[in-house]
Amino acid sequence: MSVSRTRILGVGRAVPERVVANDDLAQRMDTSDEWIQQRTGIRQRRHISTSTGATDLGKIAAEEALRSAGVSAQDVDLVIFATLSPDIDWPSCACLLTQKLGTRNIPAFDVKNQCSGFIYGLASADAMIRAGRARRALVVGGEIHSTGLDLTTRGREVGVIFGDGAGAVVLGPTDDPDRGILSTHLHADGNHAEKLWLEAAASRNRPRIKPEDLDGDDPAGFPRMSGKFVFKHAVTRFPEVIKESLDANGLAIADLDLLIPHQANLRINQFVAAGLELDESKVVNNIDRYGNTTAASIPIALHEAIADGRVAADMLVCLAAFGAGFTWAAALMRW
Ligand code: COA
Repeated sequence: MSVSRTRILGVGRAVPERVVANDDLAQRMDTSDEWIQQRTGIRQRRHISTSTGATDLGKIAAEEALRSAGVSAQDVDLVIFATLSPDIDWPSCACLLTQKLGTRNIPAFDVKNQCSGFIYGLASADAMIRAGRARRALVVGGEIHSTGLDLTTRGREVGVIFGDGAGAVVLGPTDDPDRGILSTHLHADGNHAEKLWLEAAASRNRPRIKPEDLDGDDPAGFPRMSGKFVFKHAVTRFPEVIKESLDANGLAIADLDLLIPHQANLRINQFVAAGLELDESKVVNNIDRYGNTTAASIPIALHEAIADGRVAADMLVCLAAFGAGFTWAAALMRW
């Protein structure tokens, strides 16, 4: 078969059962449901309640994606795991997942590119499939944020935003030139790395993490963010990369049936939709229920959009992300 494109064959997702509402956080820190909803659109997020790693949720999402694709774990010949919150420092989540799924001794690696990680993984799998290096690729985005957040008033700007979850897709080749991933577009700019980052544990320090990293006014052991700065860059880079993906295929915003953006902040997505003159009915948002699950947010949103019938055959769908790094990315596909 001549491979002209890669298609998504199946999708899965997994979120912890424990729902943490804004009011639950307000009992632990100086915040309010009103503040969080107004600034971010988040009403609740999921947090794990027992020891659970990104690959535990990733396994559940991957198994659903495999089932819906009609593919067995033995058929998978590439695993890519996107995460900024791996179960352990090393080896990679992708390696851990191959053991959990019982795959053959296939290539498996992690992508650590924060909110853009899933699209970076998707682009890598797409390239390997089109090059004939893989026929059944599993791309997972999985995150456990809750164990690494400062859920006191000191960490409230970041602590209220993030949630735990995982999503997965199975990809395979198609010879249908009109369907599948039309193009992917990846960008990074490390100039603003410190505007959204987690410094410790840091290999440049001995020991890598010290007691004071979890102490003081602005500790390096918790994620730190310049919210307004990140917001401004997000609302510039999102439309840029969405337009880039359409331009590359001779298409326009009017051709787009559905935008599935990374879920960082409802206001960011509304701002982007308004700037592009894209009707909000064409934008998938579920941040109200899950918060920002970084690399997992796009496959979780895709899963929901398929389940509720918002994604249908022949639709032009754009996935787009922006996040720490900074990194930003898009994938345009004909469903
Ligand atoms: N509850 C209550 N108050 C909070 C708070 C919380 N959870 N978090 C921060 N505040 C306070 C701040 O301490 C600050 O107080 P000060 O004015 O006394 O210093 C004030 O609220 C800031 O409010 P405002 O200026 O209205 O915040 P904002 O409109 O910039 O919204 C964010 C803050 C974080 C929601 C917003 O900047 C944002 O979403 N940025 C992008 C974040 C993002 O997308 N990150 C992930 C990228 S992938």
